Amino acid sequence: MEFQGDEVMTLGLSVDQVLTTTRTVRRRLDVTRPVPRKLLEECLEIALQAPNGSNFNRWHWIIVDDPEMVAKVGGQYQAQVRFDPKNPGPDPDGPEVQAMRKRVPGGEKILDSSFALAEKFDKVPAILIPLMRGRSENYNLFEQSSAWGSIYPAIWSFCLAARERGLGTAWTTASCMREREMCEVLGIPHEKFTHIGMLPIGYYEGTSFKQAWRRPVSEVLTYNSFGG
Ligand SMILES: Cc1cc2nc3c(=O)[nH]c(=O)nc-3n(C[C@H](O)[C@H](O)[C@H](O)COP(=O)(O)O)c2cc1C
Repeated sequence: MEFQGDEVMTLGLSVDQVLTTTRTVRRRLDVTRPVPRKLLEECLEIALQAPNGSNFNRWHWIIVDDPEMVAKVGGQYQAQVRFDPKNPGPDPDGPEVQAMRKRVPGGEKILDSSFALAEKFDKVPAILIPLMRGRSENYNLFEQSSAWGSIYPAIWSFCLAARERGLGTAWTTASCMREREMCEVLGIPHEKFTHIGMLPIGYYEGTSFKQAWRRPVSEVLTYNSFGG
């Protein structure tokens, strides 16, 4: 799959294929191949068609693709995720992380691949940083639901559009634990916008994305009342 001039090539996957095989790409994110801005803008244009409360478009999007900025921004993720005995953070061999490994099928792989992503986060071709206009700290439930629900669908649409174009993404929120630092690095007016995570983007290696394990419908669905 190539980007040729003005023409953006897509894989021609069915809607169901895209929906069921868009995975979090960490290890298979190719850090050696630049991603054209035009391709990223096309994904965002598609993403912005997502529903959002009253169509207020209460968002701002930053794409970081300058290698020096990628190193700074990715460095924040690394500082949060990498084990450093001097700072609080996950110890890959500690009891908490060991318990997480066993919580769901494939849990070990998730954690190992999260640590693998941290290793390359400062070198990825691009990082998408969605920002939510406003501060959610004092929102009531209605406002919370409306606010988060007005940005998450667009982020997921971006991931789906990227997948269809041979690009992998990884939705991450670990950087929220360093929001102040993220705002400083990126010049984000913290009092007006909420940092809600960041997504490294790159071409993915290989093509064999499969459906992932999820709790089956029979375990999570009831009809007509909670007890069902
Ligand atoms: C809200 C949210 C936050 C996440 N935060 C991180 C993160 O900080 N680091 C990471 O490596 N993956 C993160 N993930 C990815 C999940 O671990 C991943 O979606 C899950 O393991 C299922 O894998 P799949 O997306 O490939 O199906 C996040 C996903 C979501 C939806």
